[in-house]
Amino acid sequence: MRKFMKGISFFAMAVLLIFTAACNKGSDGTANSASGELDETYQFKLAHITPPSHMWHKAAEKFAEELDKRSDGRMQLEIYPSSQLGTEADMVEQISAGSVDFGFITAAYMSSRSPSFAAWFTPYAFEDLHEANDARESEVAKKILGTLDEQGMVGLDYFFAGQRVMLFKDKKVEKPEDMKGLKLRVTPSPPMQDFYTSTGASTEGLPLPEVYSAAQTGVIDGMDMDLDATITNKYYEVVDYGLVSNHMVWPAVAIVNKKTFEGMPEADQKIIREAIAAAAEYSAMTRADQEEEFKQTLKDEGMDIYEIDPALFDPYKQQFDEKYGKQDPLIQEFIDTFRD
Ligand code: BEZ
Repeated sequence: MRKFMKGISFFAMAVLLIFTAACNKGSDGTANSASGELDETYQFKLAHITPPSHMWHKAAEKFAEELDKRSDGRMQLEIYPSSQLGTEADMVEQISAGSVDFGFITAAYMSSRSPSFAAWFTPYAFEDLHEANDARESEVAKKILGTLDEQGMVGLDYFFAGQRVMLFKDKKVEKPEDMKGLKLRVTPSPPMQDFYTSTGASTEGLPLPEVYSAAQTGVIDGMDMDLDATITNKYYEVVDYGLVSNHMVWPAVAIVNKKTFEGMPEADQKIIREAIAAAAEYSAMTRADQEEEFKQTLKDEGMDIYEIDPALFDPYKQQFDEKYGKQDPLIQEFIDTFRD
């Protein structure tokens, strides 16, 4: 009899589980079929290089929040900031292999895997972050993401923090030619470095953790940076001048392991795409609103924060377009789309 009762309660539990699965709600609010299509739970991992104070980390937290909300708690995200999982090269390897699901990886690094990402470094392509954010939706931006398909990854979107500015230790640069002979730290990305060397400056591709002491000891005369990192890494302590040139944007590329992503039901892929788009929008718009505040913070720290006429860079823009447009048809398409 006890055995029979045990059998009944097991049967009742099984019926209850099947019933619950059949009643689960999809992201569009409709009930799913009894196949249990949206019952899957996920524990994802995301890696990136910036510290928790940087906008990309805040955007990763927003992504986690959106996933949780849009999946009714089925999708959870663990975030590994500050290069905890290694360099960007290590992270991309882990994402291709599937041991990490998502990454926010600089377009600078991604351009070493797929050259068309260099398009984002077209100088003065965008007036401001609002324009850059709109460009996320463009055909060419999507085609560039599509180039990752053959590398075991899906490119999902772009996350903007501040645009690039120029910091100088003790020379106030008033025109591009004033950079001649200066040694500047520029991210080791050929399009970014070429832009500076075309003015007569020389470049050092130092990794971020070495930049503060290099400026402090005079190994470099300045750097290409964003205002965000100038504040979070306290570069204002070791440089006097900040030219807010906003000459290039600085996107992180959101990538996901292709097998993980394409193995999910389409409705779950949709949740991920919508959650990432919401987080990307949040990142660019929140950062755009902070521009004046960040400039004031640096003035308060004693820096000379200034601007010059962007037209002074016209000859250097042209050199960039001629060289990089020839290197990849998608870079040419990007220039044709966004150059005024
Ligand atoms: C840089 O290498 O310049 C950098 C990387 C991540 C965030 C900000 C700046």
